[in-house]
Amino acid sequence: MQDWLPRQKEIFRFIEDKLRDVLCSYGYQEIGLPVIESTHLFSRLVGESTDIVEKEMYTFDDRNGESLTLRPEGTAGTVRLAQENGLTFNQVQRLWYAGPMFRYERPQKGRYRQFEQIGAECFGMPGPDIDVELMFMTKRMWEVLEISADLRLELNSLGTAESRAEYRIALQEYLSGVKHELDEDSLKRLESNPLRILDSKVEKTKDLLQGAPHLSEFLDADSIQHFDQLRRILDKQQLSYSVNPHIVRGLDYYNKTVFEWVTDSLGAQGTVCGGGRYDGLVEQIGGKSTPGVGFAIGLDRLALMLEPEFESSKQADVYIAAVGDNARVTALALAEDIRDLQLTTLQVKIRVVVNCGEGKFKSQLKKADSSGASLALILGDDEVANGQVTIKHLRESGEQKLINSEELGTYLAEYYSRIEPRHRTAGMTEE
Ligand code: HAM
Repeated sequence: MQDWLPRQKEIFRFIEDKLRDVLCSYGYQEIGLPVIESTHLFSRLVGESTDIVEKEMYTFDDRNGESLTLRPEGTAGTVRLAQENGLTFNQVQRLWYAGPMFRYERPQKGRYRQFEQIGAECFGMPGPDIDVELMFMTKRMWEVLEISADLRLELNSLGTAESRAEYRIALQEYLSGVKHELDEDSLKRLESNPLRILDSKVEKTKDLLQGAPHLSEFLDADSIQHFDQLRRILDKQQLSYSVNPHIVRGLDYYNKTVFEWVTDSLGAQGTVCGGGRYDGLVEQIGGKSTPGVGFAIGLDRLALMLEPEFESSKQADVYIAAVGDNARVTALALAEDIRDLQLTTLQVKIRVVVNCGEGKFKSQLKKADSSGASLALILGDDEVANGQVTIKHLRESGEQKLINSEELGTYLAEYYSRIEPRHRTAGMTEE
């Protein structure tokens, strides 16, 4: 589990703001999910024999002896929320959520035990049009983050639970025949979850899989038609993709369409977004049969992609330096005046930082410089006595200027009307 320093947090905030705007523009509505749910919810919906449930959940008993789990993903919670609150009853829903997820995995670059997801889940639409909408929406997200060149879309169809069960037997039979050549992990999965062997990164196992039966040969007619239609729409809309028969996803609830957005720029943890249909899930927790489809994006992985090019914003625009007891008090009041002014006269958002604590002007101006501020306002005993303030431009050459305090608003308004609007600032969107 990681600490996030200001720069990393700013990157996350930047990504979240951009993705939230895209979700809003498609009419998706935000929901909030509890971080802790009943363990039973995940074991039932995500699947007993998945890696997540078998070995990755943070599970504990509460004071009542009830088994609870830190959510490893958001789909199960969303299905529960939708079902318990009647959202799936004869209605169409487009929902989204964001927040931390927890999995006890072996940490490495791009894989953490606490990580952030933004996910979208839709109910009541059998597709494939809504499947395509999700692909368009995610593509747009990569465009606004300017990383679309590094990402590609991969699709597969998993058919129904029944077709998968038949395929599972065929795959198991085939792999049992070459059992002695399988790697250790795949051998373990042979009985419990043979489909996950398709995901193997071990070269030898990948070679063996070349001769394995394909899930596509076992698909039911409805799933084949769904997948054909989906591909036809994507082709017509010129959204590029490739079909990857090895995408099985690590969660049991999927049927028909599954998809992933993948990059080569992150090494082994290259999937930044994964999703698909889960038409049986609402019924599985006691609701009326309702189609569902969604995806989740790993924000930590997007942050790794953006990190090298990301320009951190500076801490301050205006830095107030003050020496002397009176001046230090006046500095705080002056900063409040400027913050008031930015709503009225200035019409721009500026960050004002006051030098708190002692220190000579020289050291305070050094701090002003490293804060990134373009203006320093200087207050000493003389300025305070005369109701004045000294202005020093930190990024342009020129003399310092002494002005009357009541003229400061006009001065700043004139100054900010001639410089570029602020860009990319955590918590402050572009003007
Ligand atoms: P998932 O594939 O398990 O799917 O996770 C989605 C994304 O979360 C991954 O593609 C990855 O970017 C990120 N992620 C997963 N585990 C980690 C980790 N340990 N560290 C960092 N990032 C990670 C789901 O969670 C499904 N609920 C997606 C979904 C929604 N399907 C339908 N609706």
